[in-house]
Amino acid sequence: MSSDTSFLLGIEDLTVSFDGFKAVDSLNLYVESNELRVIIGPNGAGKTTVLDMICGKTQPTEGSVKFLNRELVGMSEHAIVRAGVGRKFQTPSIYENLTVLENLEVSFPKGRSVLGCIAFTRSSEVMKRIQKVAEEIFLADHLETEGAHLSHGQKQWLEIGMLLMQEPKLLMLDEPVAGMSPAERELTAQLLKRITPGRSIIIIEHDMEFVSASPTRSPCSTSGKSLPKAPWMRSGITQRSSRFTSGTDAFHRSNFALC
Ligand SMILES: Nc1ncnc2c1ncn2[C@@H]1O[C@H](COP(=O)(O)OP(=O)(O)OP(=O)(O)O)[C@@H](O)[C@H]1O
Ligand SMILES: [Mg+2]
Repeated sequence: MSSDTSFLLGIEDLTVSFDGFKAVDSLNLYVESNELRVIIGPNGAGKTTVLDMICGKTQPTEGSVKFLNRELVGMSEHAIVRAGVGRKFQTPSIYENLTVLENLEVSFPKGRSVLGCIAFTRSSEVMKRIQKVAEEIFLADHLETEGAHLSHGQKQWLEIGMLLMQEPKLLMLDEPVAGMSPAERELTAQLLKRITPGRSIIIIEHDMEFVSASPTRSPCSTSGKSLPKAPWMRSGITQRSSRFTSGTDAFHRSNFALC
C-alpha cells in the first residue's frame, strides 16, 4: 500500500470473490480531499460492491482501503461511519413518518445512540445545522413536511442531507439522480458542486449528462489500468458511456470507469 499521505482515500488491489466469481478485481482508486469522483459502468459491473467494501458491509477477499491513512478493511460499519465515511444506498431510506426536520435531527451524531437520544435536546447548535443543511438540499421550506409526502427527488436530497448532518469527510452516493426529473437532476448537480468543498464525494452514476455536468477530473482508469489521457473527455463522456453501457461481452463484468 502506498505511503502517500496526500490522499483522503487510497484503495489498492481491492478484490472480492463471491463463490469464485470476482465481482471486483484488483481495483486501484485514489481520492483527494475536496474531490468528486464518479464511477460509471453497466449493471452488475461491481460498482455498488466497491462502496460496500469501503463502508465495511462487504469484506474484500484481497486489497486495502486506507482512509486518512487508516486501514478500513476489518473495521465495523459503525466504526467506519464514525471515522467520517457517509454512504447513501441506491434506494432512498428516510423515515417516511417523520418530518424533514425530524429526519435531519435524528441524523445529528449526538442523537443517534440510545444514551445520546435520552440526553438529546434540540439545541440552537442542532437547529443551526438543520437550517444550513435544509437550505443546501432545497428543503428549507419543507421542514414540517412528512417524509412520505416528499417527491422521489426530494427524498433523495433529504437522505443526502441526513448524511451531511454527520459532516462526513467522504460521502458516497449510489445513483443519486436515479428516477429524478431533469430539473431535479440539474439541482442535484448544483448541490454536489456546493457540498464538495470541505469533503470528498464518490458518486456511482449511469446518467452521463449528469456526469458531464459534474466537476470530475481526468485522467480515468478502468479496473486499475490507466486509460489514454482524455480523448474521450474532449469528445464527450457519451463516447465512453456508450462503451460502458453497451452490455456486450466486450466488457468484463468487473470493468467500470472512474472519472
Ligand atoms: N453479497 C453478494 N453475494 C453474492 N454476489 C454478490 C454480492 N454482492 C454483489 N454480488 C454480485 O456482484 C456483482 C456486482 O454487483 P453490484 O451490485 O456491485 O453491481 P453494480 O455495478 O452496482 O450494478 P447496478 O448498476 O445494477 O447497480 C453482481 O453479479 C452481483 O450479483
Ligand atoms: Mg449498484
